[in-house]
Amino acid sequence: MLVPINIIVNDEAYCLEIKPNRVLLDVLREDLGLTGTKKGCGLGKCGACTVLLDGRPVHSCLLLAVQADQAKITTIEGIAGEKPHPLQEAFVAKGAIQCGFCTPGMINTAKALLDTNPDPDETEIKLAIAGNLCRCTGYNQIISAIQVCTQSNSDIKAEKRVESNE
Ligand code: FES
Ligand code: FES
Repeated sequence: MLVPINIIVNDEAYCLEIKPNRVLLDVLREDLGLTGTKKGCGLGKCGACTVLLDGRPVHSCLLLAVQADQAKITTIEGIAGEKPHPLQEAFVAKGAIQCGFCTPGMINTAKALLDTNPDPDETEIKLAIAGNLCRCTGYNQIISAIQVCTQSNSDIKAEKRVESNE
């Protein structure tokens, strides 16, 4: 039996017919070709599969695709605009990407944090990414990259730009 679902992924509307036992992660990767979302554990433990569902970070390996019916989903492919997202630039600049397997989920989690709390302190950043495991970086570079994108740091950078133009 196939079930119809309507989802918006990265601002594009999809009408799909899927088996009711398929998880969102597999539908994104296999049906829509959005392989930026990674499958790590498949058990809700590593965060590699994190996407935004109506702006909230979710483990797409645990969510049945039918549960996402009518939702708006953002994957790493939809994070950038014409230019890379500031988080993507900061991750590169700070060396927060090594093998890159955790990066799509990590950036989605960080984006959700900054969208709801533009100026998190270090503890809030650590708490937010606690469900996203990284085996390479030791986390410090990831935390620094997120800190680059907080409101206070953006304000400081804007002030410096104004000063250097004066
Ligand atoms: S693959 Fe989903 S949490 Fe690990
Ligand atoms: S960069 Fe390799 S797991 Fe995070």
